[in-house]
Amino acid sequence: MRQSKPPLHVALDRRSRVPMNRQIYASIRDAIRAGRLAARTRLPASRVLARDLSVSRTTVVLAYEQLEAEGYITGRRSAGSFVEDLPLESLAPRNRARSALDPSQEQVARRLVALARQAAGPPHVHAAPVPFRIGEPALDLFPARLWARLYSKQTRRSAGSPLGYGGVGGYLPLRAAIADYVRSTRAVNTSADQVIITRGAQQAIHLAVRVLLAPGDRVWVEDPGYLTARAIFQSAGAAVVPVPVDAEGLIVSDGMARAPRARLAYVAPSHQFPLGATMTLARRLALLEWASRSGAWVLEDDYDSEFRYAGPPLASLQGLDTAERVVYIGTFSKTMFPALRLGYAIVPSALADAFLAAQALVDHVAPTFEQMALREFIEDGHFSRHVRRMRAEYASRQEALLAGISRELEGLVHAAPAEAGMHVVGWLSSRGADAAAISNRARADGVEAAPLSAWTMAAPRPPALLLGFAAVRPRTMPAALAILRRAIAPRAR
Ligand SMILES: Cc1ncc(COP(=O)(O)O)c(C=O)c1O
Repeated sequence: MRQSKPPLHVALDRRSRVPMNRQIYASIRDAIRAGRLAARTRLPASRVLARDLSVSRTTVVLAYEQLEAEGYITGRRSAGSFVEDLPLESLAPRNRARSALDPSQEQVARRLVALARQAAGPPHVHAAPVPFRIGEPALDLFPARLWARLYSKQTRRSAGSPLGYGGVGGYLPLRAAIADYVRSTRAVNTSADQVIITRGAQQAIHLAVRVLLAPGDRVWVEDPGYLTARAIFQSAGAAVVPVPVDAEGLIVSDGMARAPRARLAYVAPSHQFPLGATMTLARRLALLEWASRSGAWVLEDDYDSEFRYAGPPLASLQGLDTAERVVYIGTFSKTMFPALRLGYAIVPSALADAFLAAQALVDHVAPTFEQMALREFIEDGHFSRHVRRMRAEYASRQEALLAGISRELEGLVHAAPAEAGMHVVGWLSSRGADAAAISNRARADGVEAAPLSAWTMAAPRPPALLLGFAAVRPRTMPAALAILRRAIAPRAR
């Protein structure tokens, strides 16, 4: 093995807004791509590089984890991290002249890049867990061995037909298991043939857009709200109408005043993202009444309601709908793990064929072995056991976070308990605080506290940080809170 000749040259710009871990990552990545760091070279230990660069060890660990997640290096436990053996010719910059787009194509591509960037919020794709990152379950507590056993059992048993394309709509026994599950836990009215298995909630939203929207159609979205959904609507040429939310959820009368003839309303009634309200019955009925009267559709995103701490999961909006105007979306990204890429849309019978047709054009079918293993995981009771365990664990992690906030961030942040989900909203006590700048400072030190402003559209809100608690191990909480405290009050002791 080659040893990197210390010191490894890493260019750091301490005045840059780019977090240190991203700078270290980019510098090493570029050295690998340019061949300056040869295959099988051992990188310095994170502790050593952190000392050489005068940054925290977490910062270097984050950079190494990102490099590993993207395949530039491999970590071999105590032996250290090594540069992968990569086909460098294929990483060489492409011939620009050949790949240049003409101006109209370039405009289309640029618009898509801009929409995706807006939707992404703080950068977090691929990287390993970071304290307080939102939307991330406790991946270390997932029963990975059990899952691997179920999965490999399917692949061993299933020579032949499961290796083919499979049916559009998904693996029928899993569709039936999901229908049973949502009927009993969420009072959703459905049969298995209304369940369309998708690659996560995200693909379910795409299919709904394909089936329900034409360019120029108006769509209500919650403000603040889930920006990925907004970007998907915009990428299809829809006109997005931000509708404010309050403690009762989406303000339906506001939507009706702004865009009475909207074609679609996108809502998360069980647990509004990101403020956390549960939509009241009066608002639910008003929304359904508007949809049925005006011929609009409602897209109900039920992304994390399994984790409800005050009583059992709530009945869905879909279950109240007598006019078949609701498309209900669920995901296994939070209850299982995001990389599984399995979710579902439950569609009115009249739309089932159109959804299947849209899916046939997009990706034909979700991966079959994952679906078969998931069906067994559900039917054998592992799924409900895991969700029950995580609910208890997240409840105690939330308690630890709230106690930590009142102890470590007293006078700086106040937060109320979240009734559901995996994050709390930490309101900054100083009304003039710059949440985005605080978030950048925290990120440079390895903590991700996303500013609420990243998800607001038209209605301004007081400064706040979104703090995920599900993936934060209790013993890392005090150090993470100390970093947050320094980011909020850098001059305080
Ligand atoms: C509001 C909302 N809906 C849906 C999802 C889940 O998306 P997916 O199933 O595509 O992972 C998320 C994930 O963060 C979310 O925040």
